[in-house]
Amino acid sequence: MLTEERNRLLGQTSAGTPMGDLLRRYWMPIAGVSELEKNPIKAVRLMGEDLVLYRDLGGKYGLVDRHCPHRRADLSYGFVEECGLRCNYHGWLFDNDGRTLEQPFEDVANPDAHYRDKVRVKAYPIEAKAGLLWAYLGPQPAPLVPNYEPFLWENGFAQIVISEVPCNWFQGQENSIDPVHFEWMHRNWSIRLRGETGPYAPRHLKIAFDEFEWGHTYRRVTEDAGEDDPLWTVGRVCLWPNALFTGSHFEWRVPIDDENMLSVTWHFSRVPNEREPYIQGTIPTWHGPIKDALTGKWITSHVMNQDFVAWLGQGALADRTKEHLGTSDRGVIMIRKRYLDDIDAMARGEDPKAIVRDPAINRRIDLPIVNKDVFINGLPAGQYANKVNSVVARSYIFQVGQPEEVRQAWEDAMGFEREEPKGGVLELLSATRRA
Ligand code: FES
Ligand SMILES: [Fe+2]
Repeated sequence: MLTEERNRLLGQTSAGTPMGDLLRRYWMPIAGVSELEKNPIKAVRLMGEDLVLYRDLGGKYGLVDRHCPHRRADLSYGFVEECGLRCNYHGWLFDNDGRTLEQPFEDVANPDAHYRDKVRVKAYPIEAKAGLLWAYLGPQPAPLVPNYEPFLWENGFAQIVISEVPCNWFQGQENSIDPVHFEWMHRNWSIRLRGETGPYAPRHLKIAFDEFEWGHTYRRVTEDAGEDDPLWTVGRVCLWPNALFTGSHFEWRVPIDDENMLSVTWHFSRVPNEREPYIQGTIPTWHGPIKDALTGKWITSHVMNQDFVAWLGQGALADRTKEHLGTSDRGVIMIRKRYLDDIDAMARGEDPKAIVRDPAINRRIDLPIVNKDVFINGLPAGQYANKVNSVVARSYIFQVGQPEEVRQAWEDAMGFEREEPKGGVLELLSATRRA
């Protein structure tokens, strides 16, 4: 059980709060590069700040205040120029550093006043990596955008999935270090959602949590897999500060504000050996729905949709003073303490955990990965099983709503058609221990 003060602290996202300032020390993925290719301007809200993300005609990215510094018009209705974003109200033009480049009428009426040099728009840096656009809202000097090993993998089809989830990001992050929920929320609940009453999945017998340089690992022994199984010898990664990494994909929980988060997934499918060499053109970005429009209830058919149900059920901002933690929650307790320690480290003027500043380290950040050789070397097509194995699943099982064109592009890359089992994704989920 947490004290009220610590509970409040962990949920904070705005600038000037200890946790909000901690989060600002890290780059956050906020959109897909391919999204802005279709539409160059996107309104975003990030850690309590209303902002506008854009790609100008010269190809440069910018992230600026939603409101124009002239008379506060909404810059998400502005238009991009060769350099920068122009307000649609009176035409003031701003570059991605926040400088005012033009004030059309002032420049004619009062050119000697140099008024434009006296007005700036709030601006933050944006970097593109792995098909994602990353934002940094913290103090300079900014660290590097982490160059995780999967971003360098070849012969794969990557896709980005984004959803807005109306609850605090930390509820999602606590789920990144919670192995036991997989048995119940994904496997057993999927059996019940299919209308069956059993048999239930093999139980967890033993779990372990360890901290390492880039986050924490969780490991498990279940009734059907012993201590020589890679889920015990390698495990999965709760990635610092705000992601889950399972080998096939990253799931970032990006704070929109204290009561909303953006779920950003980067998923990698290794193509079969017969399809090599495969070079992907554009990494598609799609938006996954979370609510069933007909019933008004949360969607429950896919892995992450099920996770969202848990986080949303905890409330917009979970009240942890009312919890009763057990042995299964050792990982959760561990990371809560680690964030609080990091807040103290920052107060002492130190860098918090997992900040990358050294380009030599950032050439490639290796992470623990189950079946890593399959991601790197691939398999012959015949060995791609139709089961929920994060390496070889023949279906996008993580979120509902994959657009037809993305499914088609995936099939073109993989060289075979997606196969759905008779019972759909729920059947796959109730038959696996792999996530
Ligand atoms: S409000 Fe933006 S130019 Fe006037
Ligand atoms: Fe889950």
